[in-house]
Amino acid sequence: MKKNILLGVCAGIASYKTCELVRLLVKDGFSVKVIMTESATKFVTPLVFQALSNNMVYLDMFAPVKEENIKHIELTEWADVCVVAPLTANTLSKIANGICDNLLTTVICAMPQSKKVIFAPAMNTNMWKNPIIEENADKLKKLRKYIFLNPSSGLLACGDYGEGRMPEPEEIYSRVKAVLK
Ligand SMILES: Cc1cc2nc3c(=O)[nH]c(=O)nc-3n(C[C@H](O)[C@H](O)[C@H](O)COP(=O)(O)O)c2cc1C
Repeated sequence: MKKNILLGVCAGIASYKTCELVRLLVKDGFSVKVIMTESATKFVTPLVFQALSNNMVYLDMFAPVKEENIKHIELTEWADVCVVAPLTANTLSKIANGICDNLLTTVICAMPQSKKVIFAPAMNTNMWKNPIIEENADKLKKLRKYIFLNPSSGLLACGDYGEGRMPEPEEIYSRVKAVLK
């Protein structure tokens, strides 16, 4: 049966790679619905994700409920698995501290215990190695419902070399499939 993937996109350069992740999932027959943070829309337009996923993109928790629009709790019920890629330092820290101030953080908080959430963080090495971010990441790693794909090392978008690259779309795609088996 066709499985449903809820995909959160935060405001990081690596969001261009998330477009390829959507393409891989849709090509393989998954249904994909994308939630973007407001800042994420400054990097890749919602139209790109709408076109790749063949679904409307969810942005605003307080948008008037239209026919094609569903509420945040319904999104958690619809999803078989949730993926957040890229996960920014900001959203990682909000989730780790139970902050629900936008649609994405609220949906993650409301995901039932039985459903997995895969996080693919991406950020500058100094952010990733910041003890506050490390502590917040450790909080999430301790919870069984969360699967953390550690960022890899290499050339970062900011020009530095170091840890902080988002895993490649193919790797995230393989993990999604493995979780749904
Ligand atoms: C060009 C540019 C690139 C950025 N890349 C990242 C990134 O890769 N990871 C990250 O955590 N923050 C990055 N940021 C900072 C986030 O966009 C910023 O913290 C934002 O508030 C995150 O919002 P969100 O978590 O609601 O999506 C970048 C900012 C700019 C201007």
